[in-house]
Amino acid sequence: MSAGFPEYRGRRLRRTEPLRRLAREARVSVDDLILPLFVVPGRGVRREIGSMPGVHQTSVDELARDAVEAVDLGVPAVLLFGIPDSKDDVGSSGYAEDGVVQQAVRALKRDVPGLAVVTDVCLCEYTSHGHCGVIVDGEVDNDRTLELLARQAVSHADAGADIVAPSDMMDGRVAAIRAALDARGHGRTAILSYAAKYASAFYGPFREAAESAPQFGDRRGYQMDPANADEALREVRLDIAEGADIVMVKPALAYLDIVARVKRETGHPVCAYHVSGEYSAIMAAGRLGWLDADRAMEEALTSIRRAGADMIVTYWARQFARRQNRDAGAGSRG
Ligand code: PBG
Repeated sequence: MSAGFPEYRGRRLRRTEPLRRLAREARVSVDDLILPLFVVPGRGVRREIGSMPGVHQTSVDELARDAVEAVDLGVPAVLLFGIPDSKDDVGSSGYAEDGVVQQAVRALKRDVPGLAVVTDVCLCEYTSHGHCGVIVDGEVDNDRTLELLARQAVSHADAGADIVAPSDMMDGRVAAIRAALDARGHGRTAILSYAAKYASAFYGPFREAAESAPQFGDRRGYQMDPANADEALREVRLDIAEGADIVMVKPALAYLDIVARVKRETGHPVCAYHVSGEYSAIMAAGRLGWLDADRAMEEALTSIRRAGADMIVTYWARQFARRQNRDAGAGSRG
């Protein structure tokens, strides 16, 4: 151990912004951010989500504008969620060749080069009952759901998705998706698996955005119990063994211990999802004047990076990029 007080004075390196910049350990870069976008059918549609200020449901044409703006700001990737016209009990609009997400992927791959397109693979946005899989005897049936998830993932890859991101929490779905992709010649399509996804109250606003609230029961039969950490490591290791290229921990802020353990114990690329409720809570407190939302959001993202996440899914990606570009301008003036 080095010297204590008064030889050591921690404040010496906190005195000025240039000194703080030199001593800074963790940094969020725009390069690490993935922006979620919600796509709906139609043209010229742009509807703000009530519980998520600044986040919209958009039709493909409007989505392309948002994507161009994101790329121009330096954001490398978007994550697409679809809200279809019609839902049924097996979520068939989720794997339709001309489904909303498939159309959006094609448009982005054609018109927005330089953007990585990630797609959410899950049935809940497409099923009439709002669950993430097929219902058999009142429960989500794991093995029957696998085939549908694989079909959905393949249809996204056919449309040109760079990364498919299964968020359903069925057992064995990474292996099923990998095998289906490879069988269709999509060996280059990567899998970002929601490996440790908890049954969280922080998804509340998302279910308004994606119109995917379960019509009966809840998701605790397949998403993880917030109390469990060792289990997260088991889930992550299984997904890596099945072929996950990136593993996700979700939500982020209440699970930073999981982010840190997954990174430390696996060394695999780790993505953390700063989810809708985390975003909305900060935005709402900001609107009430109870805290500075910009600073709180930056602090939240920094803490997620500091915990060990390599990348972060955040609704705040564009705002972060704008602030950073502005600060970089100010920094060069000294
Ligand atoms: C499910 C899915 C959810 C989210 C992403 N994918 C919701 C859920 O499991 O109920 C939540 C994202 C967020 O809250 O921002 N396909």
